[in-house]
Amino acid sequence: MGKGKAAGFTHGPALLFVEPCEVRRIAANFAKLPERGQHRPFVAARVRYQDLVIRTPWQNTPSRSKHLPRARKLSMASGFNVHDAAGYEQLMGRWSQKLAPLFIDFAGVADGERILDVGCGTGSLTFALARTADLSEIAAIDYSPVFVEEATRRNTDPRIKVRQADACALPFEGGTFDRALALLVLHFVPQADKAVAEMRRVVRSGGVVAAAVWDHLGGMPGMRMMIDTVAALSEGGRRLRGRYCFQPMMEPGELKRTFIEQGLVDVTETQLMIRMDYQNFDDYWAPIAAGEGPLGKYVATLDTAERAGIDAAVRDAYEAGRSDGPRSFANVAWACRGIIA
Ligand SMILES: C[S@@+](CC[C@H](N)C(=O)[O-])C[C@H]1O[C@@H](n2cnc3c(N)ncnc32)[C@H](O)[C@@H]1O
Repeated sequence: MGKGKAAGFTHGPALLFVEPCEVRRIAANFAKLPERGQHRPFVAARVRYQDLVIRTPWQNTPSRSKHLPRARKLSMASGFNVHDAAGYEQLMGRWSQKLAPLFIDFAGVADGERILDVGCGTGSLTFALARTADLSEIAAIDYSPVFVEEATRRNTDPRIKVRQADACALPFEGGTFDRALALLVLHFVPQADKAVAEMRRVVRSGGVVAAAVWDHLGGMPGMRMMIDTVAALSEGGRRLRGRYCFQPMMEPGELKRTFIEQGLVDVTETQLMIRMDYQNFDDYWAPIAAGEGPLGKYVATLDTAERAGIDAAVRDAYEAGRSDGPRSFANVAWACRGIIA
């Protein structure tokens, strides 16, 4: 499934996250659908990973629209477009590796501590933490089984334990950790305040909760360049931009306000900046072209002509009147830290 196309239902296979208790019911609904020659749906429930795999060659058929809204409504835990671990690495993982040391400096860490990495992805923060201090344990959780599998595959450190879990329902006793950290995660959690409450619950008194999210609206000119180009070309692109620029926790002060509302004290918000350095246009555009991230998900829905138009327009913006080659973009993340009273 890790290599398959995911999310969006114009192509199969698709990966849909649902509550475990709903898996059987949704699978049963799909199984009831009539057989229509080669358009017979194939449904597989994988309860262990708390997800439901639906493979179907349908386009926009009435049966599809009758059943999917129900399933979609249940997908409240994550707004992240999981496609392929290697593609994620090229789109974002390599940059979150650069951001991780700055975030650790801000969040603090000390020898002997037990740390929770919430939304570990492929492990950029997890492995940076292991290199930074002599920690006694690093628990890493992520909602995506694709990333849990990849982080587990990469891990050789016995102190690191990776598992699948929802940030809004952490599978740990209260006060288990010295710190709970979430790097570039909360903007993908529809109920981000609930995730902060959970991070607070699992950290001991006097411990630290810290999170960072990208500033999509004002702090990522390299990404805005793609998004604005797409928005100039179509109504769908404009809607994508609206969603992209206003994900949860991205407004100035929003993280801080949420931390305070969730009972954290001595709350500090700051900005962390890294540069994303690309070798050439392909280095910049290839993961999107392959379907990675929110823009990749969008371009995968376009027909050949629309796609060619977007490829050319984004290339033009990247090159900015010079020949193709290296370009460097500043990227700013909001970061927030608070203490458990
Ligand atoms: C942009 S990635 C960041 C991954 C990693 N922290 C990094 O910095 O590379 C966002 C991650 O948040 C995870 N995520 C989104 N919603 C989640 C939730 N409700 N619970 C746990 N993880 C979640 C996604 O699966 C994805 O791995």
